[in-house]
Amino acid sequence: MSTQEYKVAAAQAALDLIEDGMKVGLGTGSTAEQFINLLGERVKDGLDVLCVPTSKTSEIQAANLGIALTTLDEEPFLDITVDGADELDKDLRLIKGGGGALLREKIVAMSSDRMVVIGDNSKLVDTLGKFPLPVEVDRFGLRATLEMIAALTDELGLHQDLQVRESEDGGFYQTDGGHYIVDCSYGVIPDPEELADCLAMLPGVIDSGLFIGIAERALIGGPNGVEVYVSPYEDEEMV
Ligand code: 5RP
Repeated sequence: MSTQEYKVAAAQAALDLIEDGMKVGLGTGSTAEQFINLLGERVKDGLDVLCVPTSKTSEIQAANLGIALTTLDEEPFLDITVDGADELDKDLRLIKGGGGALLREKIVAMSSDRMVVIGDNSKLVDTLGKFPLPVEVDRFGLRATLEMIAALTDELGLHQDLQVRESEDGGFYQTDGGHYIVDCSYGVIPDPEELADCLAMLPGVIDSGLFIGIAERALIGGPNGVEVYVSPYEDEEMV
C-alpha cells in the first residue's frame, strides 16, 4: 500500500468517530484533505454536522463539498477536531504547521473536546525535530524576533538553522492571519515542553507548531492497518 492509501485509511478511521449532530474542526494539509473528502460523501448521504475549518484552503474544499460551515465566534465549543501532523511521537507531542495553518489549527483543536490526529506511518518519530519546527511570528520586528529565537535556542543548546518561509510567488509566505513563519531546523528537540515554553515568552512569537497535551489520540495508517495511539495526558475514561 502507498503513503496515500495509509492517509486515506487513517482518515476513514477518523470518520468512524463522527456522529450526527457533531460540531467538527477540520484540519489542513493533504491528510486532512482526505478526511474532508470522506466527510463530504457522508454529508451527501445525510450526515448532519457543522464544521469549523482551520484554513482558507480547507474552507473552500469543505464548502465545495456542501459541508455546513460555521466559525468559532458562532460555535466556540466543538466536539472533535480531525487534523494531520508533520511529526508526532508516542506521547502524542506534535509538530504542525508545515501547511502554514498552525495557529488556527491550535485554536480550533483547543476549542474541541477531542483532537484526533491522522497520518501515515512516516509521521511517527522517536524524537521530534527532524521536521523543521514552524514558528508563527508577527511581521513587525522580524529581524529582532529572529535574533531572539536564535539567542534563546542557543541557550537551550540546540543546533539551529532558521529560515523565514518564502511563498512561491516571491516574498515571505503569509499565514491566513497575515503573519510570517520561521522554519526552525533543530534536527532533534530533546525537550519539546521546554522549547515550547521558551518560544512562548518571546513577544514577536505568535505561536509555535509544538502541540503538547492537545491531541487525544492518533490514527496512523501503515502496513498493519490503522494503529491507534492514545495520549498519556488523557484520563482513562476518554479512551
Ligand atoms: C498544516 C499542518 C498539517 O497538518 C501538516 O503539515 C501535515 O500535513 P500533511 O497531512 O499534508 O502531511 O500542520 O499547517
